[in-house]
Amino acid sequence: MALVHEAAEVIEVSEDLEISYRPQKSFAVRSECSEANVEKELGKTLETEGNIVDLEDPDEVIKVYKIADNYFIARMIENVDRSLFEGRKNQERPFSSPISLDPVLARVLVNLSEVSAGDSILDPFCGTGGILIESGLCGIDIHGLDVQQEMVEGARENLEIYGVINHDIRQGEISKVDEIFDQGFDAVITDLPYGQASRKEGDPVEKFIEVAPELADKVVFMSDQESLNGLEPEFGVYVHKNLTRYIYLID
Ligand SMILES: C[S@@+](CC[C@H](N)C(=O)[O-])C[C@H]1O[C@@H](n2cnc3c(N)ncnc32)[C@H](O)[C@@H]1O
Repeated sequence: MALVHEAAEVIEVSEDLEISYRPQKSFAVRSECSEANVEKELGKTLETEGNIVDLEDPDEVIKVYKIADNYFIARMIENVDRSLFEGRKNQERPFSSPISLDPVLARVLVNLSEVSAGDSILDPFCGTGGILIESGLCGIDIHGLDVQQEMVEGARENLEIYGVINHDIRQGEISKVDEIFDQGFDAVITDLPYGQASRKEGDPVEKFIEVAPELADKVVFMSDQESLNGLEPEFGVYVHKNLTRYIYLID
């Protein structure tokens, strides 16, 4: 649910608001359309002798979205509490650095890897631990590597502040990753070194692309490059006008 604000189940798709659905109990209509009076109009259609409109504490919230010429009428299922991510932002952590990945983007990468509790992952460029924190909070068995000892210690400190005490973070070079970790993983998830803030020794990115598919069946990584060694990204994430990050999947 990293990028999701709310989830709603579609009940009907219609060119007008004359739908057949009727709520059983109290309800409120909340519109995401730019048109006026949608809430009022749909509220009248949905009202029966057995239900009432309750704007304060409804049993059911009916959402209306307009996509092209169709109204999507949906029943609200979940409002995602996004404040949880705020508490894990870079500036809130005991060890921070400008290279730290935003927790929302870190969670997106973890979700795309399709790992679940009990699975294992490796972040071979773990930095301050952004991806390891999000994975650890999902109950995943986490392993990290970074060439800088300062990052290794900082990532451990960050993990522990969020209550993730089982971790395996080692200092070392990507070129030696298969000797350092003598095991395979369910996924390799990482944010590649980029710009001047990240140290590059003997082309770590090239080495990563060569070695990652041997370490796991699923590889998810983020880069600032729009294409990389013949690979094309699945998604582009606009950060600001001078920076778009690209998400690559290999499986
Ligand atoms: C973009 S940062 C990762 C940031 C991280 N996702 C976070 O949330 O803090 C890339 C990391 O790769 C590490 N790195 C650079 N070259 C490396 C290499 N050859 N082997 C292992 N780690 C390396 C850097 O020290 C840096 O911490």
